[in-house]
Amino acid sequence: MNIFEALRQEHEIQRDLIAKLLKTEGKTEERKKIFEDLKHELKIHEDAEERHFYIPLMEKDMTQEKARHSVAEHHEMDELVEKLEDTEMDASNWLKIARELEHQLIHHLDEEEQEVFQMAGKVLTSKQKEDLASDYNKAIRENR
Ligand SMILES: [Fe+2]
Ligand SMILES: [Fe+2]
Repeated sequence: MNIFEALRQEHEIQRDLIAKLLKTEGKTEERKKIFEDLKHELKIHEDAEERHFYIPLMEKDMTQEKARHSVAEHHEMDELVEKLEDTEMDASNWLKIARELEHQLIHHLDEEEQEVFQMAGKVLTSKQKEDLASDYNKAIRENR
């Protein structure tokens, strides 16, 4: 497995969870559970992806700016998650913020898959792509 395949696995989990979250209503156990799951998935993915993908990409001229941009987007999503935590789940504003998070998240995942992976594919060797995948998968396994 290479790093791109590894990252895509968690992207699919996130796409699934955010879609499910937007279908929930009010202050329900279901909404709480899906939100907690999504929050956890976002956190473990962001941490492992930054360490085992973006840090190596920041060391290369060609991908440095793109890598910084993606990490900045992680921070923006973290802020939206915090905003959701600070808002009552049954307030109308909660769903509005959740939709904002969906918008940002889908944009972020698409940009990674369509733009970042292409550039990274050119600067990383096949061996690096495999090594990063095993380091990344190990980090996910340990934290899930
Ligand atoms: Fe990301
Ligand atoms: Fe990602």
